[in-house]
Formats: sequence, structure tokens, C-alpha cells
Amino acid sequence: MNVLVTGGAGYIGSHTVVELLNAGHNAIIVDDLSNAKADVIDRIETITGKRPVFYKLDCKDKDGLRKVFSENQVDAIIHFAAFKAVGESVKKPLQYYRNNLDSAMAMLEVMEEFGCKKFVFSSSATVYGPNNPHPYKEEMKAIESSSPYGWTKVMIERILTDYCTAHPDFCAILLRYFNPIGAHESGLLGDDPNGIPNNLMPYIGRVAAGQLEKLTIFGDDYPTPDGTCQRDYLHVVDLAVGHLKALEYAENHEGVEAINLGTGNGISVLELVHAFETANDMKLPYVIGPRRDGDLPAFWADAGKAKTLLGWEATHTVEDMCRSSWNFAKNAGK
Ligand code: UFG
Repeated sequence: MNVLVTGGAGYIGSHTVVELLNAGHNAIIVDDLSNAKADVIDRIETITGKRPVFYKLDCKDKDGLRKVFSENQVDAIIHFAAFKAVGESVKKPLQYYRNNLDSAMAMLEVMEEFGCKKFVFSSSATVYGPNNPHPYKEEMKAIESSSPYGWTKVMIERILTDYCTAHPDFCAILLRYFNPIGAHESGLLGDDPNGIPNNLMPYIGRVAAGQLEKLTIFGDDYPTPDGTCQRDYLHVVDLAVGHLKALEYAENHEGVEAINLGTGNGISVLELVHAFETANDMKLPYVIGPRRDGDLPAFWADAGKAKTLLGWEATHTVEDMCRSSWNFAKNAGK
């Protein structure tokens, strides 16, 4: 298949492009490089021996998208491109709604013009909102979130659902990610955010590399076994393979389908910190700080639907995630 990957130079996007190319598909990357580096395209070529077609383009630019569709036969879309910082979205809601909603809408409108009918969407466990019990199952109501970022995921899921109702021959797969961490085994691709990281693993990586002094664990008084929050961390390469499986499924199906991509296991912040120390044979300086606004105590996936429908399940261990994260972080920025 010829797959257009928006945000394909980003963290999850770049790993997905590698899996696509390795599986014999062609990848066309559209990325404005607002939160990614241009040399990711070279790195993908180093890993796979194939160079993806690349357009430096903002996904809201419909004329730009039309050019991409005119110059390439596009069979399917994987839409990653979005702003993704939860805390920033609370401070800049208009930017988040404008960017994330417009880019998805522009893509859908141009797909319609060119008759492209397969859409894999980068959604998030955040759509389950604060009130569902875990493990989260796809049939639960997933109609609210706790940040503007999360609401953009809820809204785009809704837009895609309504679009599928109006166009029964269209297929939209809503992939609800849990917490992706880890990096490509080559050490060439990984999570390397601009500025001080918000997410746990890139923060740990910078502390381990001596670029940040210590990790602050946000709260140890949650109603969990060790008092720190529990999440379902999954290896980014497993997540990338999940996109490949979703594409293969979409090739032969119509309609909308929400699917969790997680391991089905919750682990705590402290457990992850200790797993990182053990896997990489080091001590990580940390302190316990106050809770972070908006954090839920614990959630993880019911991963059964991905297995039944896509034949996908996570295969990497927490140790793999910690080792590959450090293998990337120790060389990042060099
Ligand atoms: N944490 C720390 N210290 C840090 C950073 C994080 O203790 O410096 C803790 C958080 O409090 C949380 C856990 O590590 O308990 C994981 O935090 P992340 O920021 O890595 O991930 P979140 O679970 O908060 O966020 C993820 C995704 C979002 C998504 C959100 C809700 O990154 O895209 O889940 O589903 F919106």
C-alpha cells in the first residue's frame, strides 16, 4: 500500500514509517517539523535502506495536501500530526482546537476529493475521561476528557464516526494509545521532545544523561499499591506494529472501529523508575513532589479487542522499554 503518514517525522510516526517500509509498503511523510527534526528522514533511510517521500507541510494546508495527493497514489492515511502537550493545551486551548481539528478536517476533505477511504487515527486513552473504571474497554463511553488536547481526540473520533455514518464505504480505525515509551533498537529514533520533557520516560532519560538534576515523582499518596500513579506503558515499536495491523484490517473493512493499544498491565511510576535503574545498571536521583493537576491515579487497557480483531499484542517487556529508552537518550542531541 501507499500510505500517507502525517506527523511521520515524530516519535510514534517515525517508528511506524520504519515498520511500514520493512513490511514492503511505501510511505509518504507529511510533517511541518514543528516538533520533529529533519534528520529523522535520513535516520529512517539508514535503518530501512529506503527513503520515504517527504513533504515539509502543515496539514491544515489543503492546497499543499492536494499537491501531495496529485503527485502520489495514496491508498490510506495514518494521521499522527497534532499538538500533544496536555499542560500546554490547558494554557493555549484555541491553538490546540484550531490545529488539531483543522488538520484532521482538511485531511478528510482532501481525501474525499481524491477518493481515498482508509483512515487510521492516532487517538488516546484520554478519551475514556476521568470516570470510567479500568481496565478501559472500547465499548465504554469515551466522550469526555480532562484537557483541550484530550477533547480534540474526543472530537475527531466523533467527526470520523459521523463521517463513516454518512459514507458507509469509508473505514476509520481509532487507535487509543496508552503510554508509549522505548525507542528503536538502533538508537537512531526515539522520544526527543523540544525543551524540558513533560512525559515521564523522556524526563528520566535526561536525568540519566545528567542533563537534568533529578526526577520529581508527582505524588506518592494515590490509592495505589505504592502510592504512585499506575499507567499502561507499551513499547513504541509494538505500537508501530499495531498501526500496520490496523492498516491491514482497514484494507478489507468499512465503518468505524475503536481499538485500544496497550499491554493490559498497569505499572507505577516508582516501579518504572526501579526497572530503569535495574535494566541500565544505574541509580536515578529522584524526589517525591506534589501531585500534578489532572493526573488520574491509575488506568490501563483491556487489550483483548486488538488481539481478536487485529491479531496484535504487545511483545516487548518493561526491561526492553527501559533499555532501549536509555540506548536512545544517551546519544540524543549528539
Ligand atoms: N510523572 C512524574 N514525573 C514527571 C513526569 C511524569 O511523576 O516528571 C508521572 C505522572 O504524574 C504520571 C506518569 O508519570 O503519573 C505518566 O506521566 P506522563 O506525562 O508520561 O503520561 P500521562 O499518563 O500523564 O499522559 C499520557 C499521554 C497523554 C494522554 C494522557 C491521558 O502522554 O497523551 O496519558 O491518557 F493524554
